[in-house]
Amino acid sequence: MKDIDYNALAQTYQTPLYVYDLQKISSAFLSLKDAFRARKSLICYALKANSNLSIIHHLGTLGSGADCVSIGEVRRALRAGIPKYKIIFSGVGKQDSEIQEALQSDILFLNVESEKELQRIESIAKALNKVARISIRVNPNIDAKTHPYISTGLHENKFGVDIQQAKAMYIFAKNSLYIEPVGIHFHIGSQLTDIEPIRQAAKKIAQLAHSLIALKIDLKFFDVGGGIGIRYENENLISPYDYSQAILEALYGLDLTIICEPGRFLVGESGVLLTRVLYEKYNGDKRFVVVDAAMNDLMRPTLYHAKHKVECFDKQDLESTPCDVVGPICESGDYLAKNIMLPPLAHGDLLKIENVGAYGYSMASNYNTRLRPAEVAVQNGNARLIKNRERFEDIISDEEKLLENVGHIDSHSKGEL
Ligand code: LLP
Repeated sequence: MKDIDYNALAQTYQTPLYVYDLQKISSAFLSLKDAFRARKSLICYALKANSNLSIIHHLGTLGSGADCVSIGEVRRALRAGIPKYKIIFSGVGKQDSEIQEALQSDILFLNVESEKELQRIESIAKALNKVARISIRVNPNIDAKTHPYISTGLHENKFGVDIQQAKAMYIFAKNSLYIEPVGIHFHIGSQLTDIEPIRQAAKKIAQLAHSLIALKIDLKFFDVGGGIGIRYENENLISPYDYSQAILEALYGLDLTIICEPGRFLVGESGVLLTRVLYEKYNGDKRFVVVDAAMNDLMRPTLYHAKHKVECFDKQDLESTPCDVVGPICESGDYLAKNIMLPPLAHGDLLKIENVGAYGYSMASNYNTRLRPAEVAVQNGNARLIKNRERFEDIISDEEKLLENVGHIDSHSKGEL
């Protein structure tokens, strides 16, 4: 495999720039698929991690389905060529119009997160004269031992319903002419590095599945959510084999197709963010490296205190000293790395921020009217632009038109002096 020439890519496409190695995505996907080979399984890639059409399409060619959390993501999955029978729609607050379109699109099933939502789905299905295939997200009340913002399997979190409520919902669904309960679902959190909580949750939900089947509820899918962690620093890793074994053990005696919804595991390690140094500065003794990427391009350090390795390409022979790598945004929370060792850097030097393939671009924003970066995919040594760098016109034209409608733009404000 040829090394990626990051300097050339930064030269061609400018910075900040996201670069994804499609080969890494393939390896991650195939390792997980292989781990489940003993059973029927469907990997539904969680689009929220990185919803670029080319990434979804690439996973689709490997056989992946899609786990979507908005109708926008369902549309993306369909446009990227994922077959409708491999698409599931999850999320704690689906709007009526989203439910309607999902039912009309005839996707595999909707993951339901409350009694009220189930009733809503029934009435929308009835109005469309359709039968809605559903799965219920059960909250197993298990601590996933991850960052509190991305822990979802405790009753104190807003997700899913408890086991008693789930039972009542399955009975309601079974008795409805417009609902077909086909699956059971749980997801206890993201960036999981300990297999035990997954094992316990799978066991608990499998017990529930047994009792539902005894009630003649014809379940077909056991959806174990996503959450497998990756190595940002020196975290313990859950191997695909251990993961699959924990789930297969729980499923003993149950003939169900396994669905899993990984996001980060499939794409996280494939991506880097290239950024160039603007300036170095010292405030007293404190050294800052100001770069052209910022928290709007990569939110994870600011939001979760996440640590992403930063590497520079040259100057490795020079003595490194501690510094913070910060962006140009007017907030002290705008940083990409804190207290890391880097050699002396000058305007234009290139840095590489690692493991940003998941929840990097997909959480980027236009804060401070900054333009979201371009994205490039590399496969077999060839680089391909998969998203253009945003232009100022892209983000302003709608507002400008609306402002023109009220006649507030005069020749002064347009700069026509
Ligand atoms: N399924 C459900 C129902 C989810 O809520 C999530 C993630 C996934 C699957 C995919 O999880 P993964 O395999 O990627 O861990 N922005 C945060 C992560 C938020 C995860 C939200 N839900 C971060 O940057 O760490």
